[in-house]
Amino acid sequence: MSALAEPIATDLAPRGPFRLDDGDAYQRWRERKLREYPRTVDELIVEVRDPRRLTHEERTALSERFRRANMAVYAGLGAADDKEIPRALGRQFGLEHLDANWLADDDGISSIEVHGGQPRSEFTPYTDRPISWHTDGYYNSVERRVRSLILHCVRPAKQGGENALLDHEIAYLLLRDQNPEHVRALSAPDVMTIPARCDEQGVARGEQAGPVFLVDPASGRLHMRYTARTRSICWRADAATRAAITCLESILSSSPLVLRTRLQMGMGLLCANVLHNRSGFVDAPQARRRMYRARYRDELQFC
Ligand SMILES: [Fe+2]
Repeated sequence: MSALAEPIATDLAPRGPFRLDDGDAYQRWRERKLREYPRTVDELIVEVRDPRRLTHEERTALSERFRRANMAVYAGLGAADDKEIPRALGRQFGLEHLDANWLADDDGISSIEVHGGQPRSEFTPYTDRPISWHTDGYYNSVERRVRSLILHCVRPAKQGGENALLDHEIAYLLLRDQNPEHVRALSAPDVMTIPARCDEQGVARGEQAGPVFLVDPASGRLHMRYTARTRSICWRADAATRAAITCLESILSSSPLVLRTRLQMGMGLLCANVLHNRSGFVDAPQARRRMYRARYRDELQFC
């Protein structure tokens, strides 16, 4: 990776809305962001005939949602159970490099459904339990961060399985409005540490320390790494970090800008790894909830 591609803290970013001492750029950006941000998830939904082959109009409509909210929800009209859907859809937005974690299927796309057997049953995504707020791959190294995500619904649960969503740029904005020091604290390169994960063979994944907010120097886009879980995570032990985390938790639990959706068969979320959670759910006996999840190292490219 070239030095240019190294992520940088928000207080060192190129001049623009994500730099703390560039108040003018921030105010201009803030005003537009709040004006354009959707107030309900319906504003994010684009009906598409076939997500594998979008028309120019469909692609433009999805791009317009990304520009406003870093996410879009597509509603495909055809068959839903095809891994080619997330893969081909991603390609149309420049997503090529999958981040295949060790529980992903061989093709790098994960089938998320309730698993009775080890080792998946030890991990909350493969259960029917709720998942707290996070961005995907928060435990990855900064260099291997997940920049984009597709979550495609093959079959919804009988009950529950709703996702709450918040554009990470809105989280940044609300934190900065409360106190710019919250942004500074969450941009520290060692603010969040994920301890090593060990298995019988030893260390399966090393300890990962990194910032919550960072800016990609090539694209100038803001990225976020975060988990609300309290086990297996160490926050920097200082008052500024504690205050910032408390403020973020309060935003996630009460902001009217949090959007909620329950993806139906053939629908999916295509996003710049925005903040999200999942409620618990109940499966029908013979028809388990199934999502295909594709995580990418690439940023979304849109028109
Ligand atoms: Fe996730």
